[in-house]
Amino acid sequence: MAIRDILIVPNPQLKQVSKPVERVDDETRALMDDMLETMYDAPGIGLAAIQVGIPLRIIVMDLAGKDEDPAPQFFVNPQILEDVEDLLPWEEGCLSVPDYYEEVERPRRVKIRYLDYDGKEVIEWAEELYAVCIQHEMDHLNGVLFIDHLSRLKRQRAIRKVQKTVREKALDAAE
Ligand code: NI
Repeated sequence: MAIRDILIVPNPQLKQVSKPVERVDDETRALMDDMLETMYDAPGIGLAAIQVGIPLRIIVMDLAGKDEDPAPQFFVNPQILEDVEDLLPWEEGCLSVPDYYEEVERPRRVKIRYLDYDGKEVIEWAEELYAVCIQHEMDHLNGVLFIDHLSRLKRQRAIRKVQKTVREKALDAAE
């Protein structure tokens, strides 16, 4: 397993639409293992393959609490089959938009279909944090970031803030 570099806004690769995975095989699983390790290292609770520069429809997540055992989840070719009108506001963040958080509203429950780590089809309802996170990550597969749900002004402010943080970190590292 290896930790991969996470792409940061405004990297244009993040706007790419990812392609479906044809078969869940050992190569797919090796990528999912790397993604999980990269996500834990960051640390974060969700990561889409495009965030490490791979344009495939693959997501890893772990929504376990701090005091709970790890509960990794793997999603290949996820689709939303159904959602509800009821919207849930949630303060979101993203490993590709470091140190920036803003509230986004999404359907509180979504029915999803995906292939798991073994390539087995799963159909289930996701709700609350699970629903928020899978919708956020599925946006990535379509080249959409959570800041794209904000006003233009807020989005520009977010990107400027990220660029400033990245510059400061680079300076710190150079010292
Ligand atoms: Ni994200």
